[in-house]
Amino acid sequence: MDTDALLGAAAILAEARRVVVFTGAGISAESGVPTFRDDLTGLWALYEAEELATPEAFHRDPDLVWGWYEWRRNRVRRAEPNAGHFATAAIEAMVPGSVVITQNVDDLHERAGSPAPLHLHGSLFAPRCIGPDAHPFTGTLPDPPADAGADGDPDAAADAEPDPEADPDADGRRVPPPRCLACGMLVRPGVVWFGEVLPAAAWTGANEAAANCDVLLTVGTSGVVYPAAELPRIARRTGATVIQVNPAPTALDVVSTINLRGAAAEVLPALVAAAR
Ligand code: APR
Repeated sequence: MDTDALLGAAAILAEARRVVVFTGAGISAESGVPTFRDDLTGLWALYEAEELATPEAFHRDPDLVWGWYEWRRNRVRRAEPNAGHFATAAIEAMVPGSVVITQNVDDLHERAGSPAPLHLHGSLFAPRCIGPDAHPFTGTLPDPPADAGADGDPDAAADAEPDPEADPDADGRRVPPPRCLACGMLVRPGVVWFGEVLPAAAWTGANEAAANCDVLLTVGTSGVVYPAAELPRIARRTGATVIQVNPAPTALDVVSTINLRGAAAEVLPALVAAAR
């Protein structure tokens, strides 16, 4: 880690009154949450992402798509927030005018103490019906399948994944989606699928926060998926300092005022400690 760059970033953070922390898959990497495509393992490797994450896919085979999201949701439930998530919540506590904006569909920011992160790409934990009113699902989401950790060993859930080589003709783990308690329509995952627009309230809030912050921290995102990737650029254009935390070069290197090369779980706590 470049200590001078870290101290420079910390000094700017210490003076900031409005901070945006903009996160992507990299912040959850050290919690063991795979990225969308990396989650296409085992039996799910038989599918392209587009076969599981489009409105057309859900229409064609709701049980397959719901099953895939149940699988992902259960993986996230077994993960824990890491030091990067906790440091993000610490920044919010330190700078009251902070906003956390995430592209992640996990709930690790919330579980680390961030009160209301804006989920640009939706959430695995906010299913809604496919009806015109998009009622939030108020029923209980099922626990992990009985064959996953039924013996009380939480790690057994990871091993419960079917083996495509042992059963090459098998489909994914199909799970029928529940019905909406308000209108009876099918319930769908509350995530943004390919070809869908971002949730309006989250996107509007994110734009306003990016345009009005004095520091935007971009953490663990490749910065290539739009429109989310526009946010660091908006912040930079409107005069904010953009601080990037990422172990690898990204499309946001040129947008960033300061590049802190390293893992979020190491750099963010060090940054917070130095800013205090
Ligand atoms: N700490 C910080 N950054 C990390 C770490 C880490 N420990 N490990 C990996 N990274 C970085 C990678 O170097 C990469 O730049 O995280 C980034 C992850 O990039 P992507 O996989 O492209 O994830 P993201 O930018 O969140 O993708 C945006 O694309 O797949 C869709 O909808 C999905 O929300 C997602 C969107």
